Amino acid sequence: MDGNGRWAGKRGLPRTAGHTEGEENLARIVRIAVRRNIGWLTVFGFSTENWRRPRPEVRHILGLHEKLFGRVDELNELNVRIQWIGRPFDSPEARTPRYVQRAIRKAIASTADNTGMVLTVAFDYGGRSELVAAVDSARQSPDGVTTDSISANLCLPELPPVDVLVRTSGERRVSNFLLWQSAGAAIYFTDAPWPDFDAAELDAALALT
Ligand code: FPP
Repeated sequence: MDGNGRWAGKRGLPRTAGHTEGEENLARIVRIAVRRNIGWLTVFGFSTENWRRPRPEVRHILGLHEKLFGRVDELNELNVRIQWIGRPFDSPEARTPRYVQRAIRKAIASTADNTGMVLTVAFDYGGRSELVAAVDSARQSPDGVTTDSISANLCLPELPPVDVLVRTSGERRVSNFLLWQSAGAAIYFTDAPWPDFDAAELDAALALT
């Protein structure tokens, strides 16, 4: 969801205002995606590298994750099941504060029975670290390291292959997102910063599938 900072900068607002609008826009896009009958929507909310941002910005983004995972009533009304992918909370490098962990656990449990769209939020996530951990676990499996054993040991093995990968705000390269799952995915590039990504943008991305 690139471009929150640039969106804010263009309006003379602080970067944090762009993130706030980014979170609001995610809530809007989730509603539209449900209406489009999308089965799986996965978003990159916070990368393992994002901890290096200035502390006030990191704190603000963490608060927005608490807000997003707190939208349980809205998600239940939409029949959306929320999921999370990222570094396990008990891994030595993990830094996720307890209040965010609690919000994530509560949202997953409170929406677990929903049968509609699955919204997966990548938080403290990196595609390469996910693969390293998956290969490490696959080595212990009876067949050793195979495509099946790697797939089975990803953060969320149930996540289907990506149909279309969206890159906003003029970024025309692949990032460290769902590297294994996006083999063969179409890529939709747009100049729109994430807060301006709307229904027409989503439809243009879906047209590539
Ligand atoms: C990219 O914008 C966005 C992030 C680093 C992560 C934060 C995303 C949100 C707050 C929107 C969705 C909300 C949640 C809670 C999942 P950027 O800072 O890289 O902007 P720039 O590319 O213009 O610098």
